[in-house]
Amino acid sequence: MQQKNQVALAQHAQGSPSVEELLQEMTLLEKLGQMRQHPHGIGPLSDAERDIREGRCGSILNAATLEERNRLQRIAVEETRLGVPLIFGRDVIHGLRTIFPIPLGQAASFDAELVERVAAASAREAAELGIDWTFAPMVDIARDPRWGRVAESFGEDPHLAGRLGRAAVFGYQGRQASARAPGKLAACAKHFAGYGAAEAGKDYNSTWIPEPLLRDVYLEPFRACVEAGVWSLMTAFSDLNGIPATGNEFLLRGILKGEWRFGGVVLSDWGSTHELIEHGLCANPSEAAATALAAGLDMEMATRSFIEELPRLVQEGRVSLSWVDDAVRRILALKYKVGLFERPYADVPKTSVMLCRAHLELARQSACESIVLLKNEQRHLPLKPGLSSLAVVGPLADDAKSQLGCWSYDGDESAVITPLMELRARLGSNVSIRHAAGVPSCRSDDETGFEEAVLAVRSSEVALVFVGEDAGLSGECRNRAFIGLPGAQSKLIDALAATGTPLVLVFMAGRPLTIGEECQRAQAVLFAWHPGTMGGPALVDLLTGVASPSARLPISFPRTVGQIPIYHSSKNSGRPPKSAFKGIPTGTPLDPVGFECGYLDVESTPEFPFGYGLSYAEFRYGTLLATPARAAVGESVFVEVDVENVGKSAAQDVVQLYVRDLTGSLTRPLRELKAFERLGLGPGERRRLRFELGTEALAFCRRDLTRGVEPGKFEVYVGADCRAELRAQFELVAPA
Ligand code: NOJ
Repeated sequence: MQQKNQVALAQHAQGSPSVEELLQEMTLLEKLGQMRQHPHGIGPLSDAERDIREGRCGSILNAATLEERNRLQRIAVEETRLGVPLIFGRDVIHGLRTIFPIPLGQAASFDAELVERVAAASAREAAELGIDWTFAPMVDIARDPRWGRVAESFGEDPHLAGRLGRAAVFGYQGRQASARAPGKLAACAKHFAGYGAAEAGKDYNSTWIPEPLLRDVYLEPFRACVEAGVWSLMTAFSDLNGIPATGNEFLLRGILKGEWRFGGVVLSDWGSTHELIEHGLCANPSEAAATALAAGLDMEMATRSFIEELPRLVQEGRVSLSWVDDAVRRILALKYKVGLFERPYADVPKTSVMLCRAHLELARQSACESIVLLKNEQRHLPLKPGLSSLAVVGPLADDAKSQLGCWSYDGDESAVITPLMELRARLGSNVSIRHAAGVPSCRSDDETGFEEAVLAVRSSEVALVFVGEDAGLSGECRNRAFIGLPGAQSKLIDALAATGTPLVLVFMAGRPLTIGEECQRAQAVLFAWHPGTMGGPALVDLLTGVASPSARLPISFPRTVGQIPIYHSSKNSGRPPKSAFKGIPTGTPLDPVGFECGYLDVESTPEFPFGYGLSYAEFRYGTLLATPARAAVGESVFVEVDVENVGKSAAQDVVQLYVRDLTGSLTRPLRELKAFERLGLGPGERRRLRFELGTEALAFCRRDLTRGVEPGKFEVYVGADCRAELRAQFELVAPA
């Protein structure tokens, strides 16, 4: 009944048959057709057209052009018995033609409002091509930088990923929208659930996630997206605790559709229904289809298990027709919401927003807010105004493709402004710019270009060195076991450092890299991720001080791969490290080792912690107040702090609030991010911030697996990264 009501609410098409009326009319095969998404370009086009004509296809993935889309739509609407329109999906991940920073970069902005505007701009460009549905945001928590898809994530923290995921849903769909407005898309939160926990960082690998961790960390951002009204979810490829997500009833029917009352569509990932066989959960396609349907999957992407196996299984009574009906109701409701019954065809726009000025400006702002200043010895940055010579070195100074990053196949490389282009345009008339790539590409071991680069650096006052990963090193299945700089780039940095010219390293990459040694050779370091179309102008804004860096790391940077997994919200253990790290004992095996939770050969702390990032300004925090000091469970605690810009330039700060629940029925993380606020302050300006910690913020999955708050003492910390030292205490007591 609940579902039917939701469906009825979703209907807004005047004069179209209702979802229920349509459903009554449909044959079993027509219903199953709705549950199939066909990948455009795979197999002969005539097969796809025949399937559409016969009602065996409800959705198309990756239609090539608007004309192609409308042509296929015409077959569905005008040549099938019921004329149910197709819905067209495509991966619009961080922009369409205008490419914004990769999601991990956007996460570094800690700016939900900006993420919303970026998603809205991406939707506007995508809608222009007749795309109805994007497979974003990806809200998988990613704590293993070896995993290639860390680039597509919002990083390691559930609060951050939840806030940004929610913002992205609002941006794509509109805020709590019940129907699609012009220039909007249906969003799809993915990959439900646990995908980011792939063992050893190998994409598609199994995950083992105990229920409290699953609920508190991996599911939280999905819950936020569902609360934000996301219209669809995609299941993960991975196996969760022995049951692959696409066949996982506990996840889909239990938590998502049951506990959370999600009324939208659950789509598989590419072929993940069929992969239930490879996983070893099902013996054949028939079992795979039955298992996925029973688990709560509504639509199958790419493979044909549903359409080929379910007719027989339903007829034999081996799967319930009510599950099929439930799935089709959801799919039809989505099509109504998207407006496809009213306007099945996409119009060629009169004016285009592709790469428009507003989008390029937004891309520049988003890149600017995503680039993290990791080091700035003796204020080497911003570059001094009187500079007369500058070396621009490295394989990424002028590489449009790598600047865009993964999932940018619709992006326009010719629109990219690289750092070299922008430096020449903005500084070229006053500064002598010497460019030498040093190595032919990021992965190359060829050192023959070193000499030219060394000469350029030696004869310049400062060297900007653009190094990192090319775009092909992150994204789906682009996992790395070694996350240092690839190829000869580290050696290049050594050679350049030996000249004595100050080095500013600018990294572009799709993941945290182990770059401690390289950073030591440089005076200043910026980490730019893959910053997108306007990465060049944004970088030059930061390098020249037009803007001050304000981004913060959304994921911890390990010192070495051996520390992985390393994340800020780990537990204390019974033996937390207390003594300073001394290095590996050199004497006899009986040398004291401290018996603490750590390593002999590397410090326990990360190279750069979560939330970290420097500014050209300096911010000072006043006394921290948490009131009331004693509150009843169910009441809010308010945390207040003064923030002052004591530096000389206007800048933005990201104030972060962490909480430690000192004792619990299950042990609690050392620190959890519970709130953050980005604020701009002029020199000498001060602002008082007030955060509310309500019951929901302090709730967790308790020993009995229910979600709630437990009475007890809490510590709250506020500061510029997860090591924040300002602290206050409060206590929650049982209600009277
Ligand atoms: C596989 C990827 O895992 C998923 O994220 C993407 O949306 C689909 N392919 C469709 O391209």
